[in-house]
Amino acid sequence: MAEWIRLAEASEMKVGEARRFVVGNQAIALFRLADGFFAIGDRCSHAEASLAESDVDPEAGEVACHRHGARFDIRTGKNLSLPATRPVPRFPVRVVDGQVEVAIE
Ligand code: FES
Repeated sequence: MAEWIRLAEASEMKVGEARRFVVGNQAIALFRLADGFFAIGDRCSHAEASLAESDVDPEAGEVACHRHGARFDIRTGKNLSLPATRPVPRFPVRVVDGQVEVAIE
């Protein structure tokens, strides 16, 4: 069963901002877009670079890996361009009492 983990104060993150968190053995990239917060795995599926430390395009809802440029959909984790050929995991996110929480299995 999923466990909800508090990651951040919602008001502390601006649109287009990303942060990296490690929960247990899971690295998580948390993003704020205009329509809310989204969390995906923070290891690029190509060669494990941090997506939270990569270039965010908030209008497109995409992040471009800083190492070799693969793009991912921030809302779904879907890989959108080479050299990545696999998606990254996506985690459910909610905001409770101003705190951003992510669900981890
Ligand atoms: S590590 Fe991300 S594109 Fe290569």
